[in-house]
Amino acid sequence: MSESSNADKLIALMSDGEFHSGEELGRLLSISRAAVWKRLERLKELGLEYESIRGKGYRLKNKLNLLDAAEIRKGLSAVEANNIFIHSIIDSTNAELMRLLVSQEINHGDIVLAEMQEQGRGRRGRSWVSPYAASINLSLYWRFEQGISGVDGLSLVVGLALAEVLNNIHPGFKLKWPNDVVFDGKKVAGILVELTGDPNGILHIVIGIGININIFSSDLFNQVEQPWTSLAQITGKTFNRNELLVSINNKLIQYLTEFQAKGFSSFQQVWQQFDYLKGSEVFVHIGSNIVYGVADGVAANGELRIKTEKGIELFNGGEVSLRKKL
Ligand code: BTN
Repeated sequence: MSESSNADKLIALMSDGEFHSGEELGRLLSISRAAVWKRLERLKELGLEYESIRGKGYRLKNKLNLLDAAEIRKGLSAVEANNIFIHSIIDSTNAELMRLLVSQEINHGDIVLAEMQEQGRGRRGRSWVSPYAASINLSLYWRFEQGISGVDGLSLVVGLALAEVLNNIHPGFKLKWPNDVVFDGKKVAGILVELTGDPNGILHIVIGIGININIFSSDLFNQVEQPWTSLAQITGKTFNRNELLVSINNKLIQYLTEFQAKGFSSFQQVWQQFDYLKGSEVFVHIGSNIVYGVADGVAANGELRIKTEKGIELFNGGEVSLRKKL
């Protein structure tokens, strides 16, 4: 039995946030009390804090709401998620979905989820951190038959789906081109789209979504350079991630289906209603070049429009990043 599945059983037993004696845990896990103590130490490495009180036992400081495939499946619209793969700890859900695409039959709309990623991938080679059972780490498989040029704007549409779901919970979420979801300029969610297949034919698209949900604080974020926040910090409440996943997945399927039929242009106007940068002075970094201008929304294919002294310039994804002018 792997170390992570041992940790999983302990986490599942303690997820209720109630006290459990060392003796009870040892009995249920069929291990000695010394071994229980060793596994409790492992919880700390995952960022799960617990307390121990003599005579009562151990309890997690925060009750956990673990991912539950049955609960998620109940809420999904009929066409979605033939397969829901849930992992406790994995390197990256995007990497896992890419591996599954090679090793077994994966269906349109299948999803991979994880309580925690040890090598979560972000855009532009950054990493993405996710404390145990506190984020949404989702990778969705989408089969796309329109070829590579039809994909333009897809990640913006994914961002729009997230922003709409989050704004229904609490107003004020915006989109920072191309696809960061921000609140007061701080990042709440990020999207990493990875592709494989034939650029002129069938593409296999892995849509990776990370959302900070029930995180009030975490040492893991010490290494994160960008300002960040979470749904819990914004609202002061914690959320059932299974319910949120259902809302997000249903909205994603709806928007991706529309995108597949009509392209980005049918989302252009509504995307601009959430545009965090609109009218701001910005720098666009392209490799070692920096272009200065005023952000002016997005084009019909999702490219960023910048008013510069030369006129409107258009930027597509890849190496482009934005900073507000200081
Ligand atoms: C970004 O840099 O803004 C993109 C972050 C994307 C993170 C998600 S979490 C689920 C999926 N698996 C990964 O390894 N990355 C994406």
